[in-house]
Amino acid sequence: MKSTLVFFSFLLFFFFLVSSAYPGMKRQRHPCKNLVFYFHDIIYNGHNAANATSAIVSAPQWGNLTTFASPFRFGNIVVFDDPITLDNNFHSVPVGRAQGMYLYDTKNTYTAWLGFSFAFNSAQHNGTIHFIGVDPNLVKSRDISVVGGTGDFFMHRGIATLMTDSYEDSVYFRLHVNIKFYECW
Ligand SMILES: *[C@@H]1O[C@H](CO)[C@@H](O)[C@H](O)[C@H]1NC(C)=O
Ligand SMILES: *[C@@H]1O[C@H](CO)[C@@H](O)[C@H](O)[C@H]1NC(C)=O
Ligand SMILES: *[C@@H]1O[C@H](CO)[C@@H](O)[C@H](O)[C@H]1NC(C)=O
Repeated sequence: MKSTLVFFSFLLFFFFLVSSAYPGMKRQRHPCKNLVFYFHDIIYNGHNAANATSAIVSAPQWGNLTTFASPFRFGNIVVFDDPITLDNNFHSVPVGRAQGMYLYDTKNTYTAWLGFSFAFNSAQHNGTIHFIGVDPNLVKSRDISVVGGTGDFFMHRGIATLMTDSYEDSVYFRLHVNIKFYECW
């Protein structure tokens, strides 16, 4: 009985010790870093192999790999290697690559599930940032999770707000990505 009491008072003491010793662990309300990028996706459509930066690699049995499946692209998986630019001009010098995939997993609207990374290797940015999230394509502004990073982005986490900046004929789209890190290092 006495030992249990001692144990619990220790536990309580330890709890107060930890909660007061790490005031920095408290949730941050303002981003510690804010970066804005664009990336450009040109989807292979059967005729643009040289220019395409992404390809449909999976389709349901009723579809194929050059045209998105109906309804709502359900069952398509796209793998991409897209240039990242600082402004919305496709011809600007890329500062990195957006690489990964998106897959359509909703049968009654256009919603993609994203899993990709930004890879940088320049004096300005060097390292990777990893993203995961749900992207309801038709919503103007979508938030996805920034789950981690390496290099300049070691142990970074936050939220990325995506906005479709341009969309042309199921072949080209451009995303505006506003990354707000709430945990830096
Ligand atoms: C490649 O795609 C981009 C974006 O749609 C377009 O601006 C460019 O003219 C295309 N280039 C060729 C050679 O098709
Ligand atoms: C792919 O499917 C679309 C839509 O059903 C069709 O129009 C197109 O001809 C198909 N392409 C190939 C290469 O089978
Ligand atoms: C980026 O970081 C890697 C690993 O630290 C290093 O090898 C490379 O030279 C760096 N690149 C630039 C352009 O600074």
